[in-house]
Amino acid sequence: MLRAEKLVAGYVGAPVLHEVSIEVRPGEVFCLLGANGAGKSTTAKCLAGVLRHAGGRVFVDDVDVTQATANERVARGVSLVPEARHLFGRSTVRDNVILGAWTRSRSERAASFDRVMETFPQLPRLLKRRARDLSGGEQQMVAIGRALMANPRYLILDEPSLGLAPIYVDTILQQAAGLARQGVGVLLIEQNVGKALAVGHHAVVLETGRVALTGTAPEIATNPLVVDSYLGGIA
Ligand SMILES: Nc1ncnc2c1ncn2[C@@H]1O[C@H](COP(=O)(O)OP(=O)(O)OP(=O)(O)O)[C@@H](O)[C@H]1O
Ligand SMILES: [Mg+2]
Repeated sequence: MLRAEKLVAGYVGAPVLHEVSIEVRPGEVFCLLGANGAGKSTTAKCLAGVLRHAGGRVFVDDVDVTQATANERVARGVSLVPEARHLFGRSTVRDNVILGAWTRSRSERAASFDRVMETFPQLPRLLKRRARDLSGGEQQMVAIGRALMANPRYLILDEPSLGLAPIYVDTILQQAAGLARQGVGVLLIEQNVGKALAVGHHAVVLETGRVALTGTAPEIATNPLVVDSYLGGIA
């Protein structure tokens, strides 16, 4: 399990997260929902170790990684696909993907590369293109493919469908669900709340840095507050 226990975090100035606790189990899609500025990306960054938190603890399969760096957490099986994708635009798709496995041996890299190409059948024909010349949806696949090269047991996807055409939104969310079926624990941050809950198992709704609601995806999808605020009043 990837577990955050009472996370307290912020940037210079006011705290952003107030004792946020979540548990992502292997094999499930865990939806982290909430309005803009609620603290979703901040939670993701604390879990991945790219932002130091002031309080609380993070565990990976019961190992306390609170003091571990981002690189050490990748080695423990936690990979983050950040909100803005952060691809190297002038490098090829192949180089961007391979970069995700820089800590691994040549043979591990080759095996992971083949698996990423199977997961995203759209990628093989794009390998020689520059990342910046791809569509948003194609770039998102490269970003997720790069994260998968580290062979993560827990994958954090921060708004993978942001700015994508509806057809790509469905593809990306189905791919997230497929990874969970293979045993990966997926933490999914999504503005498409209905679609996220449709592929999710559990969910948390953050409100101004606090856990406002927590439950199974069907419970959250039928909660009147969620229906009114996020699902346009239609359950
Ligand atoms: N680098 C930063 N420096 C200072 N404040 C920040 C920084 N990043 C985020 N914040 C603030 O922290 C709060 C939570 O931001 P966060 O990015 O976690 O929200 P979010 O839920 O991911 O929102 P969104 O849906 O817009 O991505 C916001 O008030 C935001 O302005
Ligand atoms: Mg965010």
